[in-house]
Amino acid sequence: MLDSDRIGEVVLDVKDLRTYFVTRWGVVKAVDGVSFQVRRGETLGVVGESGCGKSVTSLSIMRLVPSPPGHIVGGQVLLEGDDILELDDGEMEEIRGSRIGMVLQDPMTALNPVFDIEDQVGEALKIHKNMSGEGLKANVIEMLRKVRIPAPEVRIKDFPHQLSGGMRQRVVGAIGISCDPAVLIADEPTTSLDATIQAQYLRLLRELQEQTGVGIIFITHDFGIVAKMCDRVAVMYAGKIVEQGDVRQIFNKPAHPYTEALIQSVPKMEEKAERLYSIPGQPPALWALDQSCAFADRCRYAFDRCTAEYPDMFELEHGQLAACWLREKDKVATA
Ligand SMILES: Nc1ncnc2c1ncn2[C@@H]1O[C@H](COP(=O)(O)OP(=O)(O)OP(=O)(O)O)[C@@H](O)[C@H]1O
Ligand SMILES: [Mg+2]
Repeated sequence: MLDSDRIGEVVLDVKDLRTYFVTRWGVVKAVDGVSFQVRRGETLGVVGESGCGKSVTSLSIMRLVPSPPGHIVGGQVLLEGDDILELDDGEMEEIRGSRIGMVLQDPMTALNPVFDIEDQVGEALKIHKNMSGEGLKANVIEMLRKVRIPAPEVRIKDFPHQLSGGMRQRVVGAIGISCDPAVLIADEPTTSLDATIQAQYLRLLRELQEQTGVGIIFITHDFGIVAKMCDRVAVMYAGKIVEQGDVRQIFNKPAHPYTEALIQSVPKMEEKAERLYSIPGQPPALWALDQSCAFADRCRYAFDRCTAEYPDMFELEHGQLAACWLREKDKVATA
């Protein structure tokens, strides 16, 4: 169910995206037919175990896949209707940091230690909005105020090391929204920082969204955080989306066994750590996939068909999508 006051039109429409790496082991199909949409004011979670293709998906959307060995070999990425995969490098440069941005959780990797805050927050405004002088300075102060940095007219002369971790994150947030992008990508590293910093980061993302209505892609391996943060979720496994839909719907009633296992491995407050469930086995190598469901050999429900044929994507009630043969009987359509 969409919250129609908060969530608006589609700002990012990813269609059948394919990004492959040519390696000496073979072709790594890191992203293989990924489709999803992000609406204004909405947060889409992209969740899955390490190596499933989450970061390559976000790098593909930013057109930052290292090439060689990586190539976007197919699909469309429509940003407010424009296919950014068709743009030349110069045009893409203009879009990056203005209409689509990234916010990193670890601010030290995002900020340059040798430039002050004014320079770093002002850079995108200078490049993309042709601002300079007092106008630029006033805008930078306004951005810092938006992310609730106290006394911004003084703090703009600070260097990153003079700010606390939380303040540095806020500066990164200010850079992220400085040009009022339609989409922000937040790619959480697998080894997350300490719990306080992470909580601050999640709060910051929420504030940025409330202030600007930006559509957010939130990338994580933790379904617990998705349940707290996101409106919708796309579950990735071995380069493909295996389930997608409303977060509450999926959290209460996962349709794909992989999603069920991910949810089961979320720590619960009342349970002791030693009882924490982890999914048995390992994800498959992405250069050696065959026609079977990639999750079949770890799936407690797998049957003959799962190894013979990759499942179709079935549309279930409430728009939930799942690529699993078990769900064929529940489908309202084949997506
Ligand atoms: N430069 C590269 N060359 C070859 N293979 C690559 C390259 N970058 C990524 N890959 C492969 O693409 C696949 C997807 O990687 P990706 O970084 O998207 O995973 P991820 O889901 O973001 O994992 P994590 O949760 O650890 O961040 C992996 O199998 C990885 O080995
Ligand atoms: Mg990653």
